[in-house]
Amino acid sequence: MALRNLRYEGDEILRKKSREVPIVNDRVRMLMDDMLETMYEFDGVGLAAPQVGILKRVIVIDVEDGKVYKMANPKIINNSGEQSAQEGCLSVPEKKGVVSRPMKVTVEYTNENNEIEKLEAEGLFARAICHEIDHLNGVLFVDRVIEDANEE
Ligand code: NI
Repeated sequence: MALRNLRYEGDEILRKKSREVPIVNDRVRMLMDDMLETMYEFDGVGLAAPQVGILKRVIVIDVEDGKVYKMANPKIINNSGEQSAQEGCLSVPEKKGVVSRPMKVTVEYTNENNEIEKLEAEGLFARAICHEIDHLNGVLFVDRVIEDANEE
């Protein structure tokens, strides 16, 4: 595994739409592992490939519930409820803000073995999935802030 360079707000790559991954092969698996290493290095709970300069639909998540997720082509196929909480982002290190997200999501994705999987996520895990999928569409949490942290 290797650390990758993080991209920061203002870098236009963070505003581009990422491409679908046709097959999860060794190259994609290496990207996933490098992204995890980079995420842990900077104490994040999720990371999307554009944040390391790669416009592929790949995200990794570890919300410290004992599980690590590596997802290619993640897609939310159902959502319910609502939650509002403060978010941050490794690509926007100086800012925090309250963002509204679904309380529960069902996500379909391709796992590291190139198998299609589906899971239901709730709370922080659901929030992380939504935040990382936003990155794949060129959206940053600052676009969705409903209340600045310093106004609380
Ligand atoms: Ni982020």
